[in-house]
Amino acid sequence: MRYDYEKLKDFGTKVMMAAGLSKDEAQITIENLLFADARGIGSHGMSRLINYSKRVKCGVITAGAEIKIEQESESALLIDGRNGIGAKIAMETMKLCCEKAAKTGCCVAAVHNGNHFGAGAFYSGYAAKQGMIAIVCSNSEAAVVPIGGTVPMLGTNPLSVAVPAGRHEDMNLDMATSVAARGKVVLAQKEGHDIPAGWAVDKNGIPTTDPSAVLDGGSMLPFGGPKGYAISLFIDLMASCLGGALNGRQTHHFWTDYENPQDVGYFMIVIDPAKFLPRETFLDRVDSAFDEFKNCPVAPGVKSVMLPGEIEADKQAFSMKEGIELPDAVVKELRRVGAEYGVEATF
Ligand SMILES: NC(=O)c1ccc[n+]([C@@H]2O[C@H](COP(=O)([O-])OP(=O)(O)OC[C@H]3O[C@@H](n4cnc5c(N)ncnc54)[C@H](O)[C@@H]3O)[C@@H](O)[C@H]2O)c1
Repeated sequence: MRYDYEKLKDFGTKVMMAAGLSKDEAQITIENLLFADARGIGSHGMSRLINYSKRVKCGVITAGAEIKIEQESESALLIDGRNGIGAKIAMETMKLCCEKAAKTGCCVAAVHNGNHFGAGAFYSGYAAKQGMIAIVCSNSEAAVVPIGGTVPMLGTNPLSVAVPAGRHEDMNLDMATSVAARGKVVLAQKEGHDIPAGWAVDKNGIPTTDPSAVLDGGSMLPFGGPKGYAISLFIDLMASCLGGALNGRQTHHFWTDYENPQDVGYFMIVIDPAKFLPRETFLDRVDSAFDEFKNCPVAPGVKSVMLPGEIEADKQAFSMKEGIELPDAVVKELRRVGAEYGVEATF
């Protein structure tokens, strides 16, 4: 069923405030979750309210934490997220990057002491709306085997890349560097269905479609074989070796560890195209390139070639008009969470 965005936002914000966040922290967190749901990424939407609220309530995420700029130059930032809620740390870092890039043409930020930041497109998409090109990534707890290994060594380390367009929707690639996000396995388990073949292996390295076998010591596979493995490793290196966060082998589990802060790291690059070309020229060129892709002849049964992020942008536009679609299992869980925090589920 579909539910009203504002009512869900009000409900979720109240739950996160009851768990301990300030209103601003709660709002940005719920905006991030609803952004994912609106775009059809249920694995990173309100299905996580139960975990986010629990992490705040038990103090493993620090409510009220303000980010600290530890080192700064004209185009580089090292930020201590001080174990605050992920969406706030990541959005504040992104805003700082956009400000610096508008002056110098580019800003690179590395963040440590971070928490799970949800869907990366929330931040890269914000930058694109400011006319900026953005690359956003984060490491996360080991859940993916390196090629040839049997033990998870890398997180599902998301990568999001946004490029602003003029007439077209901005491009906004947003992907786990595993074949699929691990949250989709958790959601499949909640909804009681199998996952597609090729996503994961069980604890013995045997391919499986059973979500429980994956979540019980199994592992996701990297996208694109060794190439995805390399990109995921790069993200982990930038987050941990450059930014000073824990690496994927050390990072504490979002789903199961309610005692130790995660200390994940983010890595962001923001580029102002107007420092390379007149802005309009750049946007015209992007539009022309996107026209070519949209005019690409299509295979039988395909309506049109899609640009990265286009499917999600279409769903988001529809959801904002018609309501946010949530599975019954998630709604049931939200009602339970609401009752736990004394917040009536009026959505
Ligand atoms: N915070 C974290 O630790 C973390 C970890 C992993 C994933 N994530 C998030 O999980 C979400 C889902 O990741 P995913 O890899 O399962 O996403 P996905 O596989 O659903 O989509 C990946 C990308 O492929 C694009 N795409 C899909 N079909 C397409 C087509 N036909 N033509 C052109 N482009 C197409 C989508 O627009 C999207 O940008 C993302 O928002 C990601 O940021 C977060």
